[in-house]
Amino acid sequence: MLEVERIQTFYGESHVLHDVSLTVGAGEAVALLGRNGAGKTTLIRSVVGFTPPRQGRIRFEGREIHRLPAHRVARLGLGLVPQGRRIFAPLSVAENLALGARGEAAPGAWTRERVYALFPRLRERAAQGGGTLSGGEQQMLAVARALMTNPRVLLLDEPSEGLAPIVVREIGRVLVALKREGLPILLVEQNFPLALRVADRVYVMNKGQIVYAGTPAGLDADEDVKRRFLGVS
Ligand SMILES: Nc1ncnc2c1ncn2[C@@H]1O[C@H](COP(=O)(O)OP(=O)(O)OP(=O)(O)O)[C@@H](O)[C@H]1O
Ligand SMILES: [Mg+2]
Repeated sequence: MLEVERIQTFYGESHVLHDVSLTVGAGEAVALLGRNGAGKTTLIRSVVGFTPPRQGRIRFEGREIHRLPAHRVARLGLGLVPQGRRIFAPLSVAENLALGARGEAAPGAWTRERVYALFPRLRERAAQGGGTLSGGEQQMLAVARALMTNPRVLLLDEPSEGLAPIVVREIGRVLVALKREGLPILLVEQNFPLALRVADRVYVMNKGQIVYAGTPAGLDADEDVKRRFLGVS
């Protein structure tokens, strides 16, 4: 589905990703864990075409995408929920969703009704300004907006950041439901329990390199990796 193969990514002369490989299979939920500054967002930026890798390859559904501009990559069906949510604060919930809408006519497609069924809170607040929503509601809106693009894979960059545990559990519920529908997910997180709950496979990144790849249970049992690279024990 999504194949990242030995990429090297730079910001100017600063070499951030070193030989990073990662895959997301059809219907699979994959988590990428790592501390602040590990390179997680840079990996997402590499995939979506904001910061293309200088070396290596990225394929999506068999097609090379690492030389495509970001707007072409998005149109292939990569839905991004960026770090820090980035909803349109002056626009209402419904307007934010309308801006994301794409491909609504296809059978089984995400529509505003389906999105509201998944996030009842957003229906209640349809007319409210995005900027006046709580942090959790803004995060739900960011996920809902990405779904409105009818993505073929969903990329989420730290959706739990700054949210209360009860809201994080709600995000987890939604991601598990999306996975059950067969939507492939790449979840970037620092929240270890959330990643364990959602992911079929996990990667851990440190200093721009993949230092662990395996199952959630395998990672949970690996005290050394957890202590050294995630700061949990
Ligand atoms: N636009 C940029 N220009 C130069 N360096 C950058 C830029 N963005 C990130 N970096 C550097 O790249 C490294 C990886 O940053 P990145 O944002 O990918 O980490 P992250 O794992 O997403 O961290 P966090 O969990 O804090 O979001 C850091 O050393 C960071 O300072
Ligand atoms: Mg980041």
